[in-house]
Amino acid sequence: MPAIVLVGAQWGDEGKGKATDLLGDQVEYVVKFNGGNNAGHTVVISSPDGPQKYALHLLPSGILTPGVIPVIGNGVVIDLDVLFRELDDLTARGIDTSRLVVSANAHLIAPYNRTIDKVVERFLGSRRIGTTGRGIGPTYADKMNRIGIRVQDIFDEKILTQKVEGALDQKNHLLVKVYNRRAIQVADVVDELLASVERLRPMVADTALLLSRALDEGSTVLLEGGQATMLDVDHGTYPFVTSSSATAGGGCTGAGIPPTKVGTVIAVIKAYVTRVGEGPFPTETLDGAGERLRQVGAEFGTTTGRPRRCGWYDAVIARYASRVNGVTDFVLTKLDVLTGVEQIPVCIAYDVDGVRHDEMPMTQTDFHHARPIYEYLPGWQEDISSSRSFDDLPPNAQEYVKSLEMMSGAPFAAIGVGPRRDEVIQMRALTS
Ligand code: IMP
Repeated sequence: MPAIVLVGAQWGDEGKGKATDLLGDQVEYVVKFNGGNNAGHTVVISSPDGPQKYALHLLPSGILTPGVIPVIGNGVVIDLDVLFRELDDLTARGIDTSRLVVSANAHLIAPYNRTIDKVVERFLGSRRIGTTGRGIGPTYADKMNRIGIRVQDIFDEKILTQKVEGALDQKNHLLVKVYNRRAIQVADVVDELLASVERLRPMVADTALLLSRALDEGSTVLLEGGQATMLDVDHGTYPFVTSSSATAGGGCTGAGIPPTKVGTVIAVIKAYVTRVGEGPFPTETLDGAGERLRQVGAEFGTTTGRPRRCGWYDAVIARYASRVNGVTDFVLTKLDVLTGVEQIPVCIAYDVDGVRHDEMPMTQTDFHHARPIYEYLPGWQEDISSSRSFDDLPPNAQEYVKSLEMMSGAPFAAIGVGPRRDEVIQMRALTS
């Protein structure tokens, strides 16, 4: 089977769990290929004791599915404390986590990178990115600067010490002289990382080789992207982005799978838009309508608890996501949140200083000046959460979905109509 890539189409928090659920037992491996514990997905699973809610930050969602092999790929940055805490929490709730495999080439978030993330944001003041403060950016910067610490390094104390020394040589100057903080001791960092060796060792593998063999044997591999298209370091709203490749191409580099092995690219897209952190957001609505979307859609960050900025569906972004990722299927989520809105604005193009743009503007300046050109679609009042086929939807909801699909550049394979796993309308098979 070819690999399937799953990405977010907007600024994250689109509800990727809905798509993973639809793929169900077709998938044998779930690979997290980018980001770290800046991500957050809430998965709700029904059990005899009622619905169980799991908030995962670092672990791939596949950890909750019996029989699936969850993989942390080489493109991920790992905070070992968070990894072990998430595993302990799941074990305490009766989940078998023993199948987890971690790439030897993934980078570790060293304690000094958490410190640097926070002090740099404070230092930037009004120019801050609004990061999650988890050390993600500084760790990817170390990777590119070739002073990063990789998982495999902690199995060789001599190499680890040399690498930490090399990194701290630079960082301590920065911390002490620029940011007025105390210098960090090499031995403290090395000891902290070495403390994890025995627990980590059995999980570590050459994951690119493992996945290549799995694909050759006919297994289905799902590459699950953290964050989303508009937060991608190359294709997002730079510099207000995360520091990794969150688009479909990142799936190949972050997992070690060649593009020729990818057959399906699923992008999850919300029926409206949210964003956490700073940066441009043309359809943001700061009035009561935005607050309503936030409350009804429970739009508060899983990782930081921050209220998410809310706005209307942006078809320019949808088309852009479709093009950049090569989307074969969109999964539209949270349609139910729009129930009760009388006239639903949908952004069909931008007005940039008097010029109409149907595609993403080329420059950051133009994107900052983009004003949405709205089309208003009639809303519906009926509760749609029990709809299980397209025909069950009220006519205006059908029209809303069809109009969005026409504007967005790829077919809608499924529509989420409520937070529960089964609250979904499947329009066609996802891996056809
Ligand atoms: P960082 O990833 O912590 O460096 O943060 C960079 C930007 O990406 C900030 O605007 C964050 O709010 C945003 N971000 C990072 N991870 C997520 C996510 O999982 N969902 C939504 N926004 C995110």
